[in-house]
Amino acid sequence: MNVENPNGMKPGEARTPGQSTRDVIMRDPIAPPWPILESAPKFLGDADIPYDRYTSREFYDQEMNKMWNHVWQWACREEHIPNPGDQYVYEVGTYSILICRTEAGEVKAYYNSCLHRGTQLRPTDFEGTGENFRCPYHGWTWSLDGELIDQPCDWDFPHAPAEDFSLPEIQVGLWGGFVFINMDENCEPLEDYLGPLKEHFEAFFPLERKYIEVHLRRTLPVNWKGAAEAFIEAYHVRETHAGGTEIGCAATNAEYDIFSDNVTRFIHTIGYEDVHWPAEETSEQIMEAMTKRIAAAEANRQVQKEKYNFDASDRSECEMLDSIEYFLFPNMFLFPGITLPMIYRFRPNGDDVDSCWFDLMFLRPLADGEEHPEPPECVHLDVDEVYATVPNMDPGLAIVYEQDTSNMEAQQKGFKASKKRAQTLANFQESRTRQVHITLDKYLNA
Ligand code: FES
Ligand SMILES: [Fe+2]
Repeated sequence: MNVENPNGMKPGEARTPGQSTRDVIMRDPIAPPWPILESAPKFLGDADIPYDRYTSREFYDQEMNKMWNHVWQWACREEHIPNPGDQYVYEVGTYSILICRTEAGEVKAYYNSCLHRGTQLRPTDFEGTGENFRCPYHGWTWSLDGELIDQPCDWDFPHAPAEDFSLPEIQVGLWGGFVFINMDENCEPLEDYLGPLKEHFEAFFPLERKYIEVHLRRTLPVNWKGAAEAFIEAYHVRETHAGGTEIGCAATNAEYDIFSDNVTRFIHTIGYEDVHWPAEETSEQIMEAMTKRIAAAEANRQVQKEKYNFDASDRSECEMLDSIEYFLFPNMFLFPGITLPMIYRFRPNGDDVDSCWFDLMFLRPLADGEEHPEPPECVHLDVDEVYATVPNMDPGLAIVYEQDTSNMEAQQKGFKASKKRAQTLANFQESRTRQVHITLDKYLNA
């Protein structure tokens, strides 16, 4: 449609009245890292997006066959496989991938399927250590480097010589303490795929110097994109999280940036209570709100010191408070902040169009000289199990995630019940949602 608004602005240019995210951050006493001030809003169109993309078997199969097996995706943290012999199974949809640390200390990844008759070499969710991969069915065995080293009754397999039966390898890339994989042997290097993400994150506390405090995986009753998109905009905050935050959250003024096809971001300020929205505030009211924000940041620095032995005295108010969320297509959310240091991932759940897996991690900074502790076991939650039961889970955030999750089943059912058969997105606040579909189409149409 792309019509001009009555106020003469082009589509995507309109902004809510009141203080913007940037206005607030620019008044903070400690300047934020430079990427916070980079701005890249983009109008990406306003056509409706069909619900078939969330409900159709055919579309799901296309995603599996044209996108998931051609895209870089985070599989695990390096601390899951620190030593030679360590192994980890990563699954996405119907794909199962076996990742290991070799004797030489390299990270390698293989299709988790025996070359004899297909049995998974390691079960779903396997995390462990071993000298090799021995198939539980007939005992064919591969070294960590993927060479077939034992083939019981090899006299019966003259047509299957060991040299032709090495495990097919999958591309591996490392960044920020994360192990990425890509099943496409002709894929671009991970570094190129990450684009601006790499440079941006060099300005924050290093991701590789963070450790996993909490890791949970919950099954959610919605297509993987519906779940991811519940976390990609802050437009829903006023309704879904009404009354759910103790300190002010100026979600309506969040900033949305489209840095590349693969990398987008929002920042919404926390601790700045925009009580007069949508009316403009007076300068006294702004001062009062800033005083509260600065005090909230200081309180968070104290928590870091007392609870995590981490000196955050030189960290900006923005890092200490705000929800700074980067998205890496197709499913990785990274928060570089200190107080809100989450990682999310949304994956198709086996063959089920209508459900997905949500991985949630909290990463905390390691103090100088500290080594990565052993990662906590991932806590698995079924659809009806709640976040608050997970050890070390922040009780306030558990409520927030529960509120987000509460919309999902209704949305997946509503997709199917719809007469309109398509969603209508906001030009600015839901631009990142639209970018997910634009990038997805690049793969589906390739
Ligand atoms: S299926 Fe793996 S050894 Fe037979
Ligand atoms: Fe939310």
